[in-house]
Amino acid sequence: MPADSKTNETVSITDNTTGKKVDFPLLTGTEGPKVIDIRTLYSGLGFFTYDPGYTSTGSTESKITYIDGDAGILRHRGYSIEELAEKSDYMETCYLLLHGELPTAAQKEDFESTITRHTMVHDQMNNFFRGFRRDAHPMAVMCGVVGAMAAFYHDSTDITDPHQRLVASHRLIAKMPTIAAMTYKYSIGQPFMYPRNDLDYAENFLYMMFAVPCEAYKVNPVLSKAMDRIFILHADHEQNASTSTVRLAGSTGANPFACIAAGIASLWGPAHGGANEAVLAMLGKIGTKDNIPAFIQKVKDKEEMLMGFGHRVYKNYDPRAKIMARTCHEVLSELNIKDEPLLDMAIEMEQIALNDKYFVDRKLYPNVDFYSGIILKAMGIPVSMFTVLFAVARTVGWIAQWSELIADPAQKIGRPRQLYTGAAPRNYAPLHLRK
Ligand code: CMC
Repeated sequence: MPADSKTNETVSITDNTTGKKVDFPLLTGTEGPKVIDIRTLYSGLGFFTYDPGYTSTGSTESKITYIDGDAGILRHRGYSIEELAEKSDYMETCYLLLHGELPTAAQKEDFESTITRHTMVHDQMNNFFRGFRRDAHPMAVMCGVVGAMAAFYHDSTDITDPHQRLVASHRLIAKMPTIAAMTYKYSIGQPFMYPRNDLDYAENFLYMMFAVPCEAYKVNPVLSKAMDRIFILHADHEQNASTSTVRLAGSTGANPFACIAAGIASLWGPAHGGANEAVLAMLGKIGTKDNIPAFIQKVKDKEEMLMGFGHRVYKNYDPRAKIMARTCHEVLSELNIKDEPLLDMAIEMEQIALNDKYFVDRKLYPNVDFYSGIILKAMGIPVSMFTVLFAVARTVGWIAQWSELIADPAQKIGRPRQLYTGAAPRNYAPLHLRK
């Protein structure tokens, strides 16, 4: 805990039964609410805290990402997501997240070259893919293949060596698009496409997804720019479920590839990264604009969820959703898609929800996933790959947070406690006496 987080303020908790009172220090970060340091609560008063879903719990100190959910603010290392999405590119944002500062021109060139030269995967990984059914969900394959990287890259699993940690970070960022595209190619029975070093990160991903060996493939620059922006928008998001999973796994000393595989598994759920896939399923189920009011009623009756809406932290517009909606229009116009029923439905649903008391009262706004699925679909990305793309983009956030954790001398194994409500002590009954 850095000394500059300490204030002179304290918060007291008194056990009304015993009258014992303990003062707890109040900590202050650069921004955000003050934080009560309750680490001595159990030793001082014999209590645990109870916070299922961690709605009021700061699990760590971090310098990477800041969110003000009420104001709809997201910043990486102090830079707003709006500015990064408009002026930066994904490689630069990766460098920023990993190293804390924007790169100089020389650092940027060096970083891009390092990532580019790590994009190929061990050739034997091709065989590993062949063990999966071709109709497997790509996220299932991602969990397995990324976890298996620890079996292929032994020379970057020693977490006590900062150089090995950096090499693992580079390998993960570089190889995720390759593995993601291989997952897709395997599912449709096409040959894997090797990465090309003359393409940038987003171009390379589109190339490996859509090129085939028998003809030339030209990456559309508007689509690769949009893909790059989608990657930036998903790059990191503070202590969300998958990042907390990565940190918890990392706190045990597990290797980085195992930790990222754990993060991918956590991201898969429809309440988290799986929401972009769920939005399209929802729009497909609704079918036409005419059916929207009936669907909204079902949501209010708690029979359905409005996927792509709501957020644990944002009680305002998710800033990423605004940029995503704009990108969506750009992509559709570039592709000359004038009439996209899914987009029309999404816009109408957004308007209805934003003016409906149910959503207003609960501060439910579109989140990053509301429009991303429509863009990805227009770009020809199959729905089952949506969450995989999220995982590709979020890898840098996971690995930056993991690196921060491992480098922190104060880090301990994560080990929450519980409010036990099970059976009280009782005697073992032999089998013949049980009813
Ligand atoms: N549709 C309808 N009602 C909702 C929704 C929704 N999408 N989200 C929250 N609510 C209601 C919820 O039923 C509750 O109502 P009540 O007060 O009457 O019980 C109230 O709003 C508060 O919700 P909550 O469950 O306490 O909110 P939470 O912070 O636990 O959940 C969430 C956040 C993101 C899991 C949830 O909003 C949700 O499941 N949204 C849909 C899935 C989604 O789009 N997820 C992507 C999140 S952003 C990207 C990412 O993190 O990966």
